[in-house]
Amino acid sequence: ATISLRQLLDHAAENGYGMPAFNVNNMEQVLAIMDAAKKTDSPVILQASRGARGYAGDIMIKHMIMAVAEMYPDIPVCMHQDHGNSLGTCLSAISASFTSVMMDGSLEADAKTPATYEYNYEVTGKVAECAHLVGVSVEGELGCLGSLETGAGEKEDGHGFEGTLDHSQLLTDPDQAADFVKRTKVDALAVAIGTSHGAYKFTRKPTGDILAMGVVKKIHERLPNTHLVMHGSSSVPQDLQDIINQYGGEMPQTYGVPVEEIVEGIKHGVRKVNIDTDCRMAITGAIRKVFAENKAEFDPRKYLKPSMTAMEKVCVERFEQFGAAGNA
Ligand code: G3H
Ligand code: 13P
Ligand code: NA
Ligand code: ZN
Repeated sequence: ATISLRQLLDHAAENGYGMPAFNVNNMEQVLAIMDAAKKTDSPVILQASRGARGYAGDIMIKHMIMAVAEMYPDIPVCMHQDHGNSLGTCLSAISASFTSVMMDGSLEADAKTPATYEYNYEVTGKVAECAHLVGVSVEGELGCLGSLETGAGEKEDGHGFEGTLDHSQLLTDPDQAADFVKRTKVDALAVAIGTSHGAYKFTRKPTGDILAMGVVKKIHERLPNTHLVMHGSSSVPQDLQDIINQYGGEMPQTYGVPVEEIVEGIKHGVRKVNIDTDCRMAITGAIRKVFAENKAEFDPRKYLKPSMTAMEKVCVERFEQFGAAGNA
């Protein structure tokens, strides 16, 4: 059955666990997550970016949600719009059967330029007002994702911006967070603590100077009843980097968000943890391996099935590590 983000995260808060939110673009990713959830008895958050909706099409996404509800009747599933950039994007997600939307007003509608605080709370509050009328939950974001190592904002396609930001923009301010939640009535709040999207988050295993978990604790003290969201929370595991590079890939050495830091966050109000890159890497490593080892193969199922198995393994690990397992 489908469920709103609010219902799901309230349950997570009551029971002290965190929910991984995995990005999906196609049937293979959806099935990998659902099979991992079935194996671990976990509830599910599937999320689609604007890019994912363009890739699969809203009608396909809508029917994948319905298919999942029919195929896995015992697993609660929240379908969430990741990084909505306008009221229009959020409302069209709702008409495509999403049960939750993110209005990311930390950036302007171009998803590149850091927005003013007034723009952010106005547009996010408007989305929440509309979404709540029809029982859909809302995630907002305060502060810009980006590197505390370089001060650079994100350069990733679609939802990044270039330029140099200071620490006041790269770290969510706890007092402003309290004001933001009061003004907008969001159900969940994404915070900026030094993570960024994609594989290239840190040039070394992060410590407190470049991954500000302390800010999560301060925000949670200020807002004990608000569900916190960590974006850019792939761990970029070494073994997945190694498989890709062993089979012809060329990914420079990089570091993600250690699982133990996320688990610490979950003790301090983090309830939704966004993961896309780890799944992408698992898929790509598995496909590269098949291509390298069997150059005569041309049946897509022969490399898509291993890619689903590899992604499912990542999802099982995160459901267990975040304590979601056993809570479906
Ligand atoms: O927020 C970022 C997710 O990784 C989605 O990425 O916009 O390339 O689909 P995307
Ligand atoms: P990663 O790139 O770290 O997987 O983050 C995904 C994300 O935050 C989606 O909103
Ligand atoms: Na999101
Ligand atoms: Zn994100």
